[in-house]
Amino acid sequence: METWDAIRARRNVRQYSDGPISPGDLDRILEAGRRSPSSMNEQRWDFVVCTERALLQELAKVWRSAGHVATSAATIAVIAQETDDATTRESIEFDLGQATVSMMLAAADLGIGSGHAAVQDQDLARRLLGHPDDHRCALLIALGYPADRPLRPIERPSRRPFDQVVHRDRW
Ligand SMILES: Cc1cc2nc3c(=O)[nH]c(=O)nc-3n(C[C@H](O)[C@H](O)[C@H](O)COP(=O)(O)O)c2cc1C
Repeated sequence: METWDAIRARRNVRQYSDGPISPGDLDRILEAGRRSPSSMNEQRWDFVVCTERALLQELAKVWRSAGHVATSAATIAVIAQETDDATTRESIEFDLGQATVSMMLAAADLGIGSGHAAVQDQDLARRLLGHPDDHRCALLIALGYPADRPLRPIERPSRRPFDQVVHRDRW
């Protein structure tokens, strides 16, 4: 897919067909995360990629709106170190957001749907994923081929109007 098409086609996909994601495609999505820009190139992220059905079903319990993780073909857990410093935390969150959207666009480019899931139950996430105590799971990215319709550019996305969002030269 063209980059511009992938940007316009990406949407949250929460219902997946049974088709597996090939290991090569999954690695390409992860590689997009690894290549993402970060503040001072600190790369303060780790990715745990999960494909075992029983694990995915348990992982789906970390948040009430994470149910789609259970039926995903694979889910990437985005992990980062905990910090008490608010500025550092903000900076890490920003970088994680960039890595997340890079991976989602790489997925869209392959026709693979992706769906965010927040993580509320950090203890459960740690028990399942095994990351160290001073790390937390910031987000889950569920992946799978869309069950409803293939990804294609969305003509009228559910977004604020362009002229309301964009300010030229001055607010
Ligand atoms: C930080 C963040 C957390 C999100 N958490 C969830 C979630 O827990 N469950 C879910 O179904 N969608 C979640 N979403 C998806 C948003 O609801 C979705 O991106 C938004 O409604 C726009 O829809 P679109 O992605 O289809 O364009 C999350 C998105 C972001 C950026």
